[in-house]
Amino acid sequence: MIRIQGITVYFNKCVILIIFFHYNSVFKIMNVIDEFLNQIICGDSLDLMKKLPDNSVNLVVTSPPYFNCRSYGNETIGREQDPLDYVKNLLEYTNEIKRILSKQGSFYLNIGDVYFGTKGFIRNKGRFARKTDRHYKEHKITKPNGVYLQYKQLLMLPERVAIGMQEQGWILRNKIIWEKPNPVPSYSPDRRYPVYEHIFHFVKSRRYFFNLDIAKQYNHHRDVIRCGIEPFGNHQATFPEKLIEPLILSTSNENDIVLDPFSGSGTTASVALKNKRNYIGFEINEDYCRSAIDRLEKISLEKSNNPSKQISLTNNPISNKIEQPVLFIFEENPITYDNHL
Ligand SMILES: C[S@@+](CC[C@H](N)C(=O)[O-])C[C@H]1O[C@@H](n2cnc3c(N)ncnc32)[C@H](O)[C@@H]1O
Repeated sequence: MIRIQGITVYFNKCVILIIFFHYNSVFKIMNVIDEFLNQIICGDSLDLMKKLPDNSVNLVVTSPPYFNCRSYGNETIGREQDPLDYVKNLLEYTNEIKRILSKQGSFYLNIGDVYFGTKGFIRNKGRFARKTDRHYKEHKITKPNGVYLQYKQLLMLPERVAIGMQEQGWILRNKIIWEKPNPVPSYSPDRRYPVYEHIFHFVKSRRYFFNLDIAKQYNHHRDVIRCGIEPFGNHQATFPEKLIEPLILSTSNENDIVLDPFSGSGTTASVALKNKRNYIGFEINEDYCRSAIDRLEKISLEKSNNPSKQISLTNNPISNKIEQPVLFIFEENPITYDNHL
C-alpha cells in the first residue's frame, strides 16, 4: 500500500515536472516565434531559421531557386558551378527545416530539374538570357566529366535532393507531379518537352496532420496535379495560388504557422493569410520582400473592408498581430543590392 502510494506520489511529481517543463518550453517557443509571426523578413533563410525554436512551425511550403535556372540577384543557392554542390547546399536548408518543423507537420518542397550545360533557362525580366548578360557570363559551370556530368544529361536534381533528405531522416509521403499546361518553353529537337515539376511531400514522423477529405474537395487526392503557371508582379517563378491553397488547407489548421523560407513574391504567406493561418516568409531579395509586403497589405485591407472575411486571431494562443506586415531586414547578413535579372 505504502509502496503503491509511494509510486503514486512519485508518478504525480513526474507528471507535475513534465507539465512544468512542457509549459516552460511551449512558453519559450511562443515568445521566440512571436517575433517572426506574420512577417516577411529579408535575409538568408538559413541564418534566419537558426533563430527559430525546435518543432515550432506547423507547415513549410517552399520552392528554392533551381540549379542554374534563373538569377534573382543575390541568392545564396542555385548558382553553384557543380550541381552536386547545389544538392549539398540545399540539404543544409532541409536539415534546418527538419529541426524547426513540428512533429505533426509537413514540408512541401517544389523543385525542378535541368539539363547539364544549359544556360538557356536563365532569364532577365521574363526573357531568355543573352550571352552578353552579366550574370550569364559570370556563371561558370563545372566541366563535363564524361559520366554524370555530360552535356544533354537531365541531372535528376529533385531526386538527388529527396534521397539526401531521406538520409537526413525525413519520410517521403508523396512525389507529386505538378503538370503545367503552359510551361516555360524548353525546346530541343532531340527530346520531349519538359512540362512538369516535382512537389515532394515530406514529414518528420509517422503520425502527422493530413486531411484527405479536404484534399479531395480540391481534386488534390491524386499525386498528379495539373495547374497553370502564374507570374506575379516582378517575380517570374511564383507559385500559382490555386496550386498551394489545397496543400495548406489539407495539411494545416487555422492559426497554425506556415513558413516559406524562399518566399519570393509571398504567395505562400498570402494564401496562409487568406486562410486564417499565421505566416512567416524569409526572402533574401529586398525588392521581392517589398512586393510581398504590399501584396499582404492589400489582402489585410480587403479583409478589413469586408468584415465577414476579416481574420480574427482572438483565439490564437500565440499571437494576435497580423494586420501590419513590415519589412524587417536581418542585420547579421547585410544584403547587397543588385539589378536582379
Ligand atoms: C523560386 S523563387 C520562390 C518564389 C515563391 N514561391 C513565390 O511564389 O513567389 C526562390 C526565391 O528564393 C530567394 N532566395 C534565394 N536564396 C535565398 C536565401 N538564401 N534565403 C532566402 N531567400 C532566398 C530568391 O530571391 C527567390 O525569390
